[in-house]
Amino acid sequence: MHFLITAGPTREALDPVRYLSNRSSGKMGYALAAAALAAGHRVTLVSGPTALPAPPGAAFLPVTSAAEMAAAVATALPSADVAIFAAAVADYRPAHPAPHKIKKTPGALTLTLEPTPDILGSARAAGFSGLLVGFAAETENLLANARQKLLRKGCDLIVANDVSGSATGFDADDNEVTLVFARGPDRPLPRASKLALAEIIVGACTELMVPSPSMSLPPASYLPAAVDAARQAGALIKANYGSDLGVNETLQYDLKLELDVRAQALITDILLAAFPQHAIYGEEGLAGDQSSDFQWIVDPIDGTVNYFYGIPHFCVSIALRRGQDILLGVIYDPMLDELFVAEKGGLPTLNGKPIRVSPRAHLAEAMITVGFSKNKESIDNGMRRFSRLLTQVRKTRMLGSAALGMAYVACGRLDAYIEEVISLWDVAAGILLVETAGGRAPLFVKDAALQKYSMCCSNGLLPLADIETEMGG
Ligand code: PMT
Repeated sequence: MHFLITAGPTREALDPVRYLSNRSSGKMGYALAAAALAAGHRVTLVSGPTALPAPPGAAFLPVTSAAEMAAAVATALPSADVAIFAAAVADYRPAHPAPHKIKKTPGALTLTLEPTPDILGSARAAGFSGLLVGFAAETENLLANARQKLLRKGCDLIVANDVSGSATGFDADDNEVTLVFARGPDRPLPRASKLALAEIIVGACTELMVPSPSMSLPPASYLPAAVDAARQAGALIKANYGSDLGVNETLQYDLKLELDVRAQALITDILLAAFPQHAIYGEEGLAGDQSSDFQWIVDPIDGTVNYFYGIPHFCVSIALRRGQDILLGVIYDPMLDELFVAEKGGLPTLNGKPIRVSPRAHLAEAMITVGFSKNKESIDNGMRRFSRLLTQVRKTRMLGSAALGMAYVACGRLDAYIEEVISLWDVAAGILLVETAGGRAPLFVKDAALQKYSMCCSNGLLPLADIETEMGG
């Protein structure tokens, strides 16, 4: 896991040679960095000025002021799984630092101070969804003040630090703290060296990172279950390809197969066995805990009509999102044994090799795929758009699988995919694939009540702004 740790004091300039600061030596934060490194974690240490050497093996970001610390934290936070804020950040800074050394004058000098950025307090607002750990340095009402801080700042854990004595706390080798958990009883720890306490704190963080409905792991942690589910469902539908298929429902423009239901049940079993607290939102229905933050978006057979008619172009599409944030996308074509994988913040792959959208920037050289939706208004709109594009692009295709269309845009086989009425399970994995491959895949709400969307995804280079605007952009 990636631990982001802050340490040491900050210095807030009064003038070029004077500053406001505190007695933090950095020992607690550096001990945490050493303990996390020793436990095999990746560490980024953001440190105010201290006399300590940078811990070997850590990414070291030295800073001076609270503003600099806030900026350094902002760069590391998006990739952190655990953030521990042990720094003693100045709460106030001179509102108007003097550009030149302040001259001594008779009488009192009045300073106007302004608040510094609350780095810990803004982590959640900045979108950090990992484990958030703060310190509370208190000289009175230790536990009550610590719990208030925990609630106010959205922390999972506060290390409550009594700093009223001189043998522990600021600039001492030992410390005495109580761990105050958001979910669980307080854990007072005996006085010990900062390193010994750091090992306990890092251990507590590691325990808290065991999957739970409110905790997020790095996207790659969810990948094995998603790939297993996609491959097993793919094997099931391939094994039944060309056989007599049970039809559950015949719509004017669509079919619902009994095999869709079986394939989704298989995917559901695999995903919920690995993540029992998660929710499933699939073309064939809901399962799991629908109050969970984590939702698997599943299309067990994308391209069902192709499948039924014996056209070997269909796939399994699985995405995981937390809130609105898509963390993972897997699209598997069982006929070609092609596995497309995207993780938020990573490079997308096709059968393990990195992929990227095409470099084609002109419609005249573009290959575009479209899908036709199933109501008169969108068919009419789609036909108008299609005839306009037909004369502008090199070729158009209507392939019958939205997810594979988007996967093909992500790997550069196609340059754009456009469809006016589409469901989330058709496009969720494709959105992450296209975006991580360097393209654009904005999702426009077409009908909120029916949960229908419009999609115009592309390599991001083609001039398709007019179509995006038409679709609600
Ligand atoms: O560095 P040492 O000499 O080893 O001393 C260790 C320590 C006493 C500094 C450390 O154990 C400790 O208690 N650190 C927190 C000190 C502090 O500033 O506490 P606070 O209660 O004022 O702040 C609460 C939390 O908000 C802290 O996690 C702090 O890092 C964070 N904070 C505070 C102000 C601010 N502007 N931004 C913040 O992120």
